[in-house]
Amino acid sequence: MHMNGAASSLSMGGRAYPITDHIYDVIVVGAGGAGLRAVVGCAQAGLSVACISKVFPTRSHTVAAQGGVAAALGNMGPDDWKWHMYDTVKGSDWLGDQDAIEYLCRNAPQAVYELEHWGVPFSRTVEGKIYQRPFGGMTTDFGKGPPAQRTCAAADRTGHAMLHTMYGQALKHQTQFFIEYFALDLIMDQQGVCRGVVCLKLDDGTIHRFQSSLTILATGGYGRAYLSATSAHTCTGDGGGMVLRAGLPLQDMEFVQFHPTGIYGAGCLITEGARGEGGYLTNSEGERFMERYAPSVKDLAPRDMVSRAITLEIREGRGIGKLKDHAFLHLEHLDPAILSERLPGISESAKIFAGVDVARQPIPILPTVHYNMGGIPTNYHGEVLCKINGDPDAVVQGLMALGEAACVSVHGANRLGSNSLIDLVVFGRAAGIRASELVKPNAAQPQLPTDSAEMALSRLDRLRHADGSVRTAQLRDKMQRMMQSHCAVYRTGEVLDEGVAGINETWRLGGDIKVSDRSLIWNSDLVESLEYDNLIVQAVVTMESAANRLESRGAHAREDYPDRDDVNWMKHTLATIDVNKMKTSIDYRPVHNYTMSNEVSYIEPKARVY
Ligand code: FUM
Repeated sequence: MHMNGAASSLSMGGRAYPITDHIYDVIVVGAGGAGLRAVVGCAQAGLSVACISKVFPTRSHTVAAQGGVAAALGNMGPDDWKWHMYDTVKGSDWLGDQDAIEYLCRNAPQAVYELEHWGVPFSRTVEGKIYQRPFGGMTTDFGKGPPAQRTCAAADRTGHAMLHTMYGQALKHQTQFFIEYFALDLIMDQQGVCRGVVCLKLDDGTIHRFQSSLTILATGGYGRAYLSATSAHTCTGDGGGMVLRAGLPLQDMEFVQFHPTGIYGAGCLITEGARGEGGYLTNSEGERFMERYAPSVKDLAPRDMVSRAITLEIREGRGIGKLKDHAFLHLEHLDPAILSERLPGISESAKIFAGVDVARQPIPILPTVHYNMGGIPTNYHGEVLCKINGDPDAVVQGLMALGEAACVSVHGANRLGSNSLIDLVVFGRAAGIRASELVKPNAAQPQLPTDSAEMALSRLDRLRHADGSVRTAQLRDKMQRMMQSHCAVYRTGEVLDEGVAGINETWRLGGDIKVSDRSLIWNSDLVESLEYDNLIVQAVVTMESAANRLESRGAHAREDYPDRDDVNWMKHTLATIDVNKMKTSIDYRPVHNYTMSNEVSYIEPKARVY
């Protein structure tokens, strides 16, 4: 076992911060589906592994995932992982890396069977097989056949079932959990190698420095940069914030997914599985408008298309309600047995948050921010990438990223529903495999740089004692409204340019932030400020990347550039920030236009119609 508990102290602004040291082979930050799957893999490989989480593991946002996990099991009709790969490439609007997409789809069935063997209580067919439902953009026969039933479901609480099962597995493998520890910053050495992370223990205010051969960020997305999101309030992109401050890039941040069916007003998720089970959308004229936008798959079109269709219906005056500002999702025609067996969770959410009995009334819905396709660039082993000496795929030693925090990139410009849960477990497992190749159990680690905790603690101390005139909640509100109004489903250059100016101004206003609580124990004022600090930099690079991309692709729909432009824009955006100058820089990485094996060939770009 590695050393735990050695102590030292660092002084900041005349205040002493005692530091407790820990050394592990691997540190995983985040205890959602990706983090827990990686933890299990590392433990199985005999590596000492610590899992750090700001919330109790089973409260991680994976718990909120509803509709299911995609894998071509073929339980409900013919299916093939190559069809899944085709759909994912097309869904990504050809921005996904095809080697990584092959890895995902090829390994998906095995990853789901593993979950089944671990005890995930999947819904079942009459033969006892895992139940699979249709989801948007999932088809058969390379898009030529009918919708595929590919999404493996545990009613509409699939993420809940997976997370609890994986937490059990992590405990079984004797993972050391550090629960309610907030990661402040990465420790990077002079050679650009990641050596660990510095954390604040939330319940007693002590500082903990975790040293490791490998640090894995599985910290989730940054949905809370927006005002209305299906994401939990904890989704503040803490890993992305740390990566930007370390001078590393984030990739494809302009691609923000709006889920078509957030509950109007509340923003809570109504699963796409509702449409998979036969639900449909209507406008104020009672018209099933998706038939016009996606004649072959209709309500089961991918999310970017359905969100755009709803937005257009509202814009053209066919929205519902006094303000004509939402649409209806109908489930009333479904067999009540289906509602209670397969959609119990959303039936309850609709009752609580919309006051609707789904067996009798339609649910008022509106597209709501749901997922970040962009994130920390990685290869399909989970290793973080950064352009070094002209090599766009150079690996940052000692650092991996997974799940929504990462951009592998398998989702490209638009993720298909149920490809997120499978991403977590396939790449969580891949990271464990890679870790076992890279790290020897109990290997000696070089001494940490002498300034290893300085960046983290100076930021903590600055925010803790910030005595400006703008409260964190005001800054957060300003940021969220700016993102919601200026980086939405449809975008134009004019609005984005205003957004760039507005979001940068909000960032600069952070210099005048006010935090009132100076304590270190359960200081939610301070923690929300640290979270805001992570969100705002990602909001800035999202807006800047969106203004920079002069085409429409997937979730990035520019009215002034309505077409996809493969000649100039089939490339990943890489955005970095200079924290001192408060400036964003943009660079690019080529999309991988090759597959992982010879078993499949590159899927040539074509028009994305359904
Ligand atoms: O609609 C849903 O159940 C969400 C699934 C997903 O984002 O993959």
